[in-house]
Amino acid sequence: MVALSGAHTLGVARCSSFKNRLGDPTMDSNFSKTLSKTCSGGDNAEQPFDMTRNNFDNSYFQALQRKSGLLFSDQTLYSDPRTKSIADGYAMNQATFFLDFQLAMVKMSLLDVKEGSKGEVRSDCRRIN
Ligand code: HEM
Repeated sequence: MVALSGAHTLGVARCSSFKNRLGDPTMDSNFSKTLSKTCSGGDNAEQPFDMTRNNFDNSYFQALQRKSGLLFSDQTLYSDPRTKSIADGYAMNQATFFLDFQLAMVKMSLLDVKEGSKGEVRSDCRRIN
């Protein structure tokens, strides 16, 4: 899950997806100001997940280290002791992140085959099929 979340190295989220975190005192204060400024543009205003929105790299994990994770699910990977060391590892070593990301994507593609009886792969991730 940590490696897969690293896909958030690409692209943006709209204010509607992170406005619940405005004013979060655990967030870096400058980043917090940036988010407030972005959201002054309304719910559809876009905020990149990391400083290199079009590069697939490990800067997403470095942002988590700076308390500048955009979504709650992003920053949680760093604040939860169960996953912090993995996130630190990816921030330090991009090659490890790339390898684990590849393995996790393949694993995810096999979920339906291997785990079908244990749950479901949703056609809309917010709703039970
Ligand atoms: C912890 C589970 C995850 C959650 C809660 C989550 C949630 C989100 C949210 C809320 C957005 C922003 C949507 C918007 O505001 O328009 C987003 C964007 C994105 N997510 Fe995730 N995501 C998760 C996992 C993943 C995974 C596993 C991948 C791919 C392997 C992924 C790839 C992306 C990409 C590429 C974007 C940017 C899209 C764009 O720029 O238009 N996410 N995600």
